[in-house]
Amino acid sequence: MTANTIAINQRMRHFDGHAQVWVFGYGSLIYKADFPYLERRAARIDGWTRRFWQGSHDHRGTPEAPGRVVTLVAQAGAVCLGMAYLVTPEVFAHLDHREKNGYLRHRVALDFGDGHGADGLVYIADPANAAYLGPAPEADIARHIASAHGPSGPNRDYLLRLADALRALGADDPHVFTIERHLRALDADTVAHAAGPEGGLH
Ligand code: SIN
Repeated sequence: MTANTIAINQRMRHFDGHAQVWVFGYGSLIYKADFPYLERRAARIDGWTRRFWQGSHDHRGTPEAPGRVVTLVAQAGAVCLGMAYLVTPEVFAHLDHREKNGYLRHRVALDFGDGHGADGLVYIADPANAAYLGPAPEADIARHIASAHGPSGPNRDYLLRLADALRALGADDPHVFTIERHLRALDADTVAHAAGPEGGLH
């Protein structure tokens, strides 16, 4: 599949004719809502788990040196916490552009945790897309993120903002928090090296 999914997403007919649609965000869409919305609510989806397995050519890296961002991987029994936005259909032009590097719209059941739910859409980058990187040890993912940079800024900012947003939601996400811990350990090593053997900053 081409790395640009805009045309495929525009052909998708889910929710055609609906005046309002729920979109579930589980990555940068949790903390960066750069689009108008009618309502915003914490939500969960079942059967999916968040993984830093997608390459980013356009936001947190480049085609030559991709960054790593999250996608969802199907896993029985898993629960993914995120943020849901109720939007009007015009907003999909912006979202399709923002998520164009391999993400496809999927229909999903949202649970708002108060006995209510709704059907909505979620952008998922599956292994068939050209930017997919797949699994790697979490320490390696942290090293990769530490060095990547793209038009939207350093890859590390994506990870740290996501980890903060997940804590604010009360989400337990061992994968994301482990990578965050590795990144902070790398930072501590860098500071220790800069301080030199005596520990003073030269
Ligand atoms: C999402 O946030 O729902 C999709 C992945 C991303 O844009 O980080």
